[in-house]
Amino acid sequence: MTQIWGHRGARREAPENTVPAFRRALEIGVDGVEFDVQLTADGAMVVIHDETVDRTTDGHGPVVGFTLAQLRRLEATDGMDGFAGVGIPTLAEVLDVVAPAGVAINIELKNSVEAYHGLEERVLAAVEAYGIADRVVLSTFNHYSLKRLQELGAPSELGMLYTDPLYKPWRYAARLGVGAIHPPARFVMGRGYVRRAHAAGLAVRPWVVNGERKLARMIGWGVDAVFTDVPRLALEVRERLAPARA
Ligand code: G3P
Ligand code: CA
Repeated sequence: MTQIWGHRGARREAPENTVPAFRRALEIGVDGVEFDVQLTADGAMVVIHDETVDRTTDGHGPVVGFTLAQLRRLEATDGMDGFAGVGIPTLAEVLDVVAPAGVAINIELKNSVEAYHGLEERVLAAVEAYGIADRVVLSTFNHYSLKRLQELGAPSELGMLYTDPLYKPWRYAARLGVGAIHPPARFVMGRGYVRRAHAAGLAVRPWVVNGERKLARMIGWGVDAVFTDVPRLALEVRERLAPARA
């Protein structure tokens, strides 16, 4: 059954990548959550998508230009009403919320623009500290970083993110030695993609799947999970399709 993973939490109902967004996703009943991790100037792991704080907070400048104490002074409301006082969380603050819930956890290392030296080691240490390796997926668009995670003996599944239309990506992913491919949904054009990836031993988790028809298609094609901004709707669509699948 296709799992429903909340992309940056439940970001249509609460500010993305914040504690309220993850709490909301869990209330809705997601099977998993996805979020992005970067490092501050003083090496703290924080959960934020963009490499700058400009879009989602009341601050300006690159994440890596702030110490954690400085980032803490920013409001991360992403322009949404009713969330005053919400800030950029640390990785630990997010894991404190999502780890006890038992859901799948996709930690995306946001290290394609800023290399964030040592991020892989730091993330692996956190995963070990929380004892969640078996339900964590570590993903990144930076395939050197995937290799680094392998070299470090990452015990969790690795997910290969990509943005350009790769030819037979399941072959490349299998050669990389990862366990999953995370393609933009527009590249998953039919059941054949999913079949071929599965035959290569890979899970398929497209992003970001928000429309009803697209959700129904992806679920019908048997993708392993969808990343979605609208997990409430995605769960409804999956429920509606359940008799058809049985
Ligand atoms: O991990 C899936 C998706 O989050 C990748 O794209 O830009 O939303 O981090 P982005
Ligand atoms: Ca992401």
